[in-house]
Amino acid sequence: MNDLTGKVAWVTGGARGQGRAHARALAAAGAFVVVSDIAEQIDTATYPLATPAELADTVAQIEADGGAASAARVDVRDVEVVDELVTQIVSTHGRLDILIANAGICAFTAVEDMTDTQWSDVIDTNLTGTFNCVRAAIPAMRAGRFGRIVGVSSGAGRGGMTNLGHYAASKWGIIGFIKTVALEVGVDGITANVVCPTSVATPMVMNPTTLQRFRPDLDDPTPDDAAPIFAGLGPLGVPWLEPEDVTRAVMYLVDDPGLTTGTVIEVNLGTTATRT
Ligand SMILES: NC(=O)c1ccc[n+]([C@@H]2O[C@H](COP(=O)([O-])OP(=O)(O)OC[C@H]3O[C@@H](n4cnc5c(N)ncnc54)[C@H](O)[C@@H]3O)[C@@H](O)[C@H]2O)c1
Repeated sequence: MNDLTGKVAWVTGGARGQGRAHARALAAAGAFVVVSDIAEQIDTATYPLATPAELADTVAQIEADGGAASAARVDVRDVEVVDELVTQIVSTHGRLDILIANAGICAFTAVEDMTDTQWSDVIDTNLTGTFNCVRAAIPAMRAGRFGRIVGVSSGAGRGGMTNLGHYAASKWGIIGFIKTVALEVGVDGITANVVCPTSVATPMVMNPTTLQRFRPDLDDPTPDDAAPIFAGLGPLGVPWLEPEDVTRAVMYLVDDPGLTTGTVIEVNLGTTATRT
């Protein structure tokens, strides 16, 4: 891993889960990390989103590890607030080098039952939120003639998934969007790539509503109850990833010397091996 001392990174959705793991790894490599999160509920999400305390705890964990970070409550759907954060980052640190556009929500609904709000909350957060953050970050990266942008898609960005029409659309959209960004910004030393994790053991999956999707026969399934179902989705027999498994792929893309762009890394437990 290259030393990221002097670099400034921004991780969205960093209060917990994968975003927290990415933020901790970037800080451990020496970067100053701005960790942002909505840290409040979106009503159509069927599980609790992060809290202000979790956001503060990400920074506390980074500092306890000897790293440096700051926290910001930012809804990636809010263009003005996103732009204001980037203005603050540049005025405080003089640069922005790395963006991990990780914030996302998920909810399960069949397309014919999906409300306008369910559709737009997922699209606005996952896809438009990624656009808002990437667009805001590019000028600072161009000014520094360096940038590492990582979008976070999903296995749902590699195929259809029942009851996840909005989520799959958002995650396929991220891939097309980030590949286009890669073409537009490469000349200035900026790379843009995507990671596609399969199921990860974070609150997005480890919640009663989602677990019951996989064990509808049980009233209140535990992760242990659902693990065999998840393990059966791929050839490795492993139920799910830990956040740090995705972080390895993110850090590979951050560490790349500027030779890899417009790509998609699937951290997939083999679940997409049969897809083209
Ligand atoms: N957990 C999985 O199985 C899985 C698999 C593939 C991809 N992903 C994607 O990985 C990313 C991280 O998810 P996770 O697994 O760590 O789940 P998570 O729910 O623990 O983390 C997502 C974070 O995003 C924040 N967030 C949600 N909406 C936001 C908004 N509008 N503005 C700012 N922050 C917002 C939440 O508060 C939360 O802290 C998401 O984009 C998700 O879609 C997750």
